[in-house]
Amino acid sequence: MRHSLRAQLLGWVLVPLLLLAALNATASWISARAAADLVTDRTLAASARSIAEQATVEDDLIQVVVPPAALEMFDTGSGDFVYYAVMDGAGRLLAGTADLPRWSKIDPSSGSAAKEVVYRDRPLRLLMLDHPIAGPGLRASVTVVLGTTLNSRNALLLHLWAIGFGQQLALIVAAGLFMLLGLRRGLAPLLRLRDAVLARSSTSLEPLEAGAVQAELQPLVAALNRQIERVQRQLAAQHRFVTNAAHQLRTPLTLLNVQATYARRQLGTAEQDAALAAIQASTQQMSRLSGQLLTLSRAEPGSRRARSDLVDLGTMARRVLDDVAEGALAKGIDLGLDEAMSATVRGDATMLAELLVNLVDNALRYCPKGSTVTVVVRRDGETALCSVQDNGPGLPPSEWERIFERFYRAPDTQAEGSGLGLAIVREVATAAGGTVLARRMEGGGLVVEVRLPAA
Ligand SMILES: Nc1ncnc2c1ncn2[C@@H]1O[C@H](COP(=O)(O)OP(=O)(O)O)[C@@H](O)[C@H]1O
Ligand SMILES: [Mg+2]
Repeated sequence: MRHSLRAQLLGWVLVPLLLLAALNATASWISARAAADLVTDRTLAASARSIAEQATVEDDLIQVVVPPAALEMFDTGSGDFVYYAVMDGAGRLLAGTADLPRWSKIDPSSGSAAKEVVYRDRPLRLLMLDHPIAGPGLRASVTVVLGTTLNSRNALLLHLWAIGFGQQLALIVAAGLFMLLGLRRGLAPLLRLRDAVLARSSTSLEPLEAGAVQAELQPLVAALNRQIERVQRQLAAQHRFVTNAAHQLRTPLTLLNVQATYARRQLGTAEQDAALAAIQASTQQMSRLSGQLLTLSRAEPGSRRARSDLVDLGTMARRVLDDVAEGALAKGIDLGLDEAMSATVRGDATMLAELLVNLVDNALRYCPKGSTVTVVVRRDGETALCSVQDNGPGLPPSEWERIFERFYRAPDTQAEGSGLGLAIVREVATAAGGTVLARRMEGGGLVVEVRLPAA
């Protein structure tokens, strides 16, 4: 998750948004409380004033009758308690509860002041109001202390806060959803590019499609394409080099071989003949190596224009077997074709023949005199099968994969060779969309099996 672009972007937007929301929730709580307090205080002030206004003076005695309507204002259904006390200017209780908290006001003329106190284990909003009593030639005043429990105020506070907070929550959820939608749409071209890269075949050197991705990603695609182009150029140069080198080697080797053959016919002594025979063997060997190198470089992807000839494997096998029949006869090997069912494939006819040549050549090369080598051609559902089976020495399972590597030869291999034959086989099989594997032949010997998509 830590490396997911989507999660990171979402995190960078949503986490600060949530923090801001928390901050805002606190701020809106404070302002909602101020508003609820203001409403409570206004009600308290109105009620206290209506109590104070009932005060009358008779024979220098202040009389107070608390009107029920003044207290009914607090009956909002929240079950609040209301407490009051009315005192004269000297602080004598005229009506109400004696132990209600009072406080000395800094400025007695300022009318009313409210605060929150705890009274009889209940939090109260308490208001103190001084009210002058007007009468002919009289200057008296009453102090009303009026308090209410906080149920109604708290309900209002919660209500005010919930509205603000609910709106914010809705905003955050909407922002998150739009963000997700945006990410989905925004990341889609990038994901398509990823899929396109993943879907490429291992040998594809086609440039990547740059048009679909956003401007920020264009340089990346361009850089990748430049890199691909460089690889393509280098690969082409390497191919040219190997092809040229093999060509250059082959010509003088062929000449050398011809000359050695001619010289052997001309000269008489056994030593000279032996020396020339050795030269001839080495040149033949090198000639074969350069031939194999050339074939391998031609079999590599991208080195030849892709061809898709319709190739009948049976016909091809008969032609190849005709070519090597003489060699097999000389070595006393029984070489045959087992074509149970004709099989046709699409591919480069020359390279497919080269594939079979290498397989048959191996069987003839590594099997002792008197062995049997069979080329099997068969159609197996959607695949065309072409295998070469022998009853020679075979190979241990640990070698079955490695023998397809370039220049690899199994330990203790006696006959001459370069280790390139099966690398060519695999390259050709892969190019034709097929697979190749080696396994044990029942009763000993080796089978190398090529499976290609049937045409
Ligand atoms: N039919 C076979 N029987 C036994 N060993 C084989 C056979 N075919 C191939 N091999 C082993 O696989 C190795 C690789 O074969 P290959 O790639 O054709 O190279 P090369 O024939 O030039 O050595 C050979 O050196 C040999 O050890
Ligand atoms: Mg070989």
